[in-house]
Amino acid sequence: MNPTTSHRDLTAPAEVLAAAATAAAHCAPSILNTQPWRWRVRPGRLELFAEPRRHLGVTDPDGRLLMLSCGAVLHHAGVALAVQGWRARVVRTPSMSAGVPLAVCHGFERIAITPTARPQDQAMRTRHTDRRPVSDQPLAAPVIRAITATARGAVGLQILSAEQVLDLAAAASRAGTVQARDPLARKELDYWTSRPMTDGIGLPPQVLPERPAQTTVPGRGFGHAGTLPIGAGHDRAATYALLYGDGDEPAQWLQAGEALSALWLTATALEVAVLPLSDVITVPGTREALRRMLKPFDHPYLALRLGIAEPAPGAPPRTPRLPTAHIVEVVSPDDA
Ligand SMILES: Cc1cc2nc3c(=O)[nH]c(=O)nc-3n(C[C@H](O)[C@H](O)[C@H](O)COP(=O)(O)O)c2cc1C
Repeated sequence: MNPTTSHRDLTAPAEVLAAAATAAAHCAPSILNTQPWRWRVRPGRLELFAEPRRHLGVTDPDGRLLMLSCGAVLHHAGVALAVQGWRARVVRTPSMSAGVPLAVCHGFERIAITPTARPQDQAMRTRHTDRRPVSDQPLAAPVIRAITATARGAVGLQILSAEQVLDLAAAASRAGTVQARDPLARKELDYWTSRPMTDGIGLPPQVLPERPAQTTVPGRGFGHAGTLPIGAGHDRAATYALLYGDGDEPAQWLQAGEALSALWLTATALEVAVLPLSDVITVPGTREALRRMLKPFDHPYLALRLGIAEPAPGAPPRTPRLPTAHIVEVVSPDDA
């Protein structure tokens, strides 16, 4: 196909949509690997729903992190469609109401597979969360610029100054203490971080550090150690950033998740490790502390650590995912 042409085709095959939904769901990041989404493939439509059974009702009551996760899977689906030569129009109607889709992809268009489609798809399939300390090699300025430029429009990425990193460290430590003191939050965290690999959901011990890293900004406390070996690295060379925007409603959280996905794929392609820090967001007091680092009227959606992964002692194993049948439903034309 001529790369400059495309044509509207309202009958994107169900297999194409199901393949995109499956790839997105199997690869996208989500809070505590809850995979709080469900896809429904209908003739000519792909619908994304929030899955209330996998919503963290105690630590994420407003659904911020759920929406961010669903935004990430939505962006991933766009990447998975593009590599198959399809583009969709997306209508977003984010709400926590049961049975109402968060987003609907429709109006499919056949497009040429662009030179960036395959590397993006490759990044989607290799991206992962690395909780080990980063190496001593700081990120080069052009690399930081490339990642920052990916989050644009309504969502931005603010790189924190050295002083702001100390404020983030204090907020992360405070958020950890608040959550550790809350028995219901501890119980919820424990449920999602004590799953065996075979459950296909939550965090198995293999992806959790064997001990807390000696870092300025503490990582999320999981309440218990895992078995992921970590080296002697620190976070001195890490870059910390805030994903932010000018609203604090489900629509903006969904968009922030799409931006998170886009920038994480860019970072992966540039061999930059990304670690989200989200308990500072769910604890209202520490979220407010982060808000003061931004311009008036802006709101923080997620804190991120960016850095070059430590070369040793080996990359973390892949975090498991639910089987396709749990997350992708294909409605036959007769039932639609
Ligand atoms: C909104 C959001 C918040 C997250 N918060 C944290 C966090 O605070 N600490 C952490 O170690 N990982 C965090 N993660 C990473 C997830 O745990 C990770 O995406 C999930 O376990 C799947 O693993 P993978 O990213 O390696 O595929 C977060 C991810 C998302 C999307």
